Amino acid sequence: MRIYVFSPGLRIWHWVNFLTILVLFGTGLYIGNPFFSGPPGIEATHAYGEGLTMGFIRKIHFLAGYILLASFIFRVIIGIFSKRDRMVLPRFWTRDYWSSLKEITLKYLLLKKDSDGREYIRNACARTAYPLIYLAILFMIVTGFGMYGLSNPGGFWSSLLGWVVWALGGEFQTHMWHRWVAWLIIVAAILHVYFVIREEIIRRNGEISSMINGYKYFEKEPADIGDLK
Ligand code: HEM
Repeated sequence: MRIYVFSPGLRIWHWVNFLTILVLFGTGLYIGNPFFSGPPGIEATHAYGEGLTMGFIRKIHFLAGYILLASFIFRVIIGIFSKRDRMVLPRFWTRDYWSSLKEITLKYLLLKKDSDGREYIRNACARTAYPLIYLAILFMIVTGFGMYGLSNPGGFWSSLLGWVVWALGGEFQTHMWHRWVAWLIIVAAILHVYFVIREEIIRRNGEISSMINGYKYFEKEPADIGDLK
């Protein structure tokens, strides 16, 4: 059974988000620890002439930060106006959530066959992880623009988000939180890629191509098909 799962808007958002996070993580690591200036072969002294300065790398980080913010707003808007793209939440209060969580954990541990039991568009593990990932991205935006505002006291970002730096206990602590959550997002992204490849290999259900063409294949009707209607 071929089911249309991902809208064009969601697919575009996914790849823009992927690229911006990659750029933000790369430039962010350099900001936190400027271990080299430019590609191998260019020493710090000469990097200035090549324009490969900390100022340049920070500019790229902030530009990608604005793109991340714009794409996050876009994701919220399509989540509100398109039923297919609305945010799924873990239904902790239902028995189905816990039995599905147990089932998917056994499958991920390879203790149960993937073809056994129910099928889901988003299983209990995905329903729990995705909202947390959105929250982590929002946290990076809020702390990022909070720190960004420090360079222009009284300006737009410092007026809007200056309190964030204060609430986290100061500039140093905000940097550290921004750095820890960056790693959390990257670890989550690596696990995400593992689970996508695993799904594709075990079930051959079009998991990888679905984020390009929108379609996934199912053997039975997914238990949460109502999410798409
Ligand atoms: C998932 C998204 C993001 C990742 C993975 C990321 C990663 C990082 C990392 C690893 C650092 C170095 C932290 C440190 O050691 O001080 C950093 C610094 C910073 N980031 Fe981000 N960041 C993200 C989003 C943003 C956004 C949206 C903004 C908004 C403009 C932003 C603004 C900043 C600022 C202002 C700094 C400090 C720069 C400095 O002190 O020179 N970041 N980021």
